[in-house]
Amino acid sequence: MAQIVDIAVIGAGNRGCKYLSLLAQMPCHVRIAAVVEPNPRRAAKASAILVEAGLPDAPVFASCSEMMQNISPQAAVIATPEQLHHKQAMELLDKGVNILIEKPVAVTEEQCREIAEKAARNGLVAGVCHVLRYHPYFAKLCSLATDGSLGEVVSVSHRISVGIDRACHTFVRGPWGKPALTSPMLLSKCCHDMDIITAIVQSRAAVVRSVGGRCFFRSENRPAAAADRCVSCPVERNCSFSAVDLYRRRREWTAGFDPAPGDTLESEVNRQLAEGEYGRCVFACDNEAVDRQVVIAGFENGAVASLTMNLFTAEDNRDTHICLTGGEIRGNGEIIEAVPLRGDKAIYDYSDIASKPYHAGADNAVLEDFIEAVRNPEHKMLTNIAESIESHRICILADRNLDEV
Ligand SMILES: NC(=O)c1ccc[n+]([C@@H]2O[C@H](COP(=O)([O-])OP(=O)(O)OC[C@H]3O[C@@H](n4cnc5c(N)ncnc54)[C@H](O)[C@@H]3O)[C@@H](O)[C@H]2O)c1
Repeated sequence: MAQIVDIAVIGAGNRGCKYLSLLAQMPCHVRIAAVVEPNPRRAAKASAILVEAGLPDAPVFASCSEMMQNISPQAAVIATPEQLHHKQAMELLDKGVNILIEKPVAVTEEQCREIAEKAARNGLVAGVCHVLRYHPYFAKLCSLATDGSLGEVVSVSHRISVGIDRACHTFVRGPWGKPALTSPMLLSKCCHDMDIITAIVQSRAAVVRSVGGRCFFRSENRPAAAADRCVSCPVERNCSFSAVDLYRRRREWTAGFDPAPGDTLESEVNRQLAEGEYGRCVFACDNEAVDRQVVIAGFENGAVASLTMNLFTAEDNRDTHICLTGGEIRGNGEIIEAVPLRGDKAIYDYSDIASKPYHAGADNAVLEDFIEAVRNPEHKMLTNIAESIESHRICILADRNLDEV
């Protein structure tokens, strides 16, 4: 029988609870050894997940250090805000714990390298939650580009349409609107897109340039009649960025709102609208994140790539166009067309699964890959840290070389 891995989940927020729910369905493979979460409401949410799955409650600690003073799990999933990743990863690796880290791995290239080097030195697994690599649509895109059937990749154009609801929630009103406290938009949102590009191109970047900036969500663009809060704004009904519409009328993007014990989601929505960060006018958020950015990169093997990230889209989606010496590959996020320069095109349709929960099974797949790597030293994770951080290096270089417009 395969060895059962003792695993801790560090950070029981949006991502951590997703991983916890999936791990709770794998009792033949893992035992939940602990949850590390300083926020009592989140800790209660984590305990409820275990109870619902019929598992014994796991000890909850307020910090990694406290956990390590009490127990030594074999593995841990780090799903905390990225500013904490480096410290927590180094601490866990020092104590012999294998780690799976949410993206971005860390906020500087040096921190990423230090984690990778320590994992290698200590003979431990360090995997990265670049979940798109495990998504069936993206896995097919990468394999079609690299299997040689259409020749060699010469260029990639990739677009990330963030979607205005996600954008306003996360990158304007939410914590990622302040890159100095979290990480730059490109690194936080697009490092796994850049990872897909490097998987397609199969080479290191030699040249990286970027243009972009924050053009629209600025105080000078605020309509004259607008109030500081959507709930008291006279022009709210005609505003595409209304928090009242998003959270109260449509009840979307509320998963991270934690009602106080005994309280309802509705009252938490009302509290956010009245006094929370998510009730603010998008033009009164003092945010600093870019709202569109283009990166161009030239690779050591001669391929070129462009990545365009944009907040101003109705839907969130990704699309990709790859040119190869023997044909083209076009992907619209659901359907991939492989078009040889001569001959018939092949069509691969993922529209029925592309937007399924848990990244269409990819969240589960990254966990399985990690668990297998912890059990079997011969097994190399698809998203091992040594290779995954090239994407971070490119994003960090792009921001360093950003021409602001
Ligand atoms: N792979 C993806 O598709 C994807 C999607 C969203 C976010 N992310 C990344 O996942 C990470 C977590 O994001 P999130 O959306 O889950 O954030 P979140 O804020 O919902 O969750 C983070 C949790 O960490 C907890 N925490 C804070 N300090 C802690 C500490 N010292 N020890 C333990 N826990 C602590 C917080 O209380 C919170 O519950 C980020 O790095 C983010 O960029 C990845």
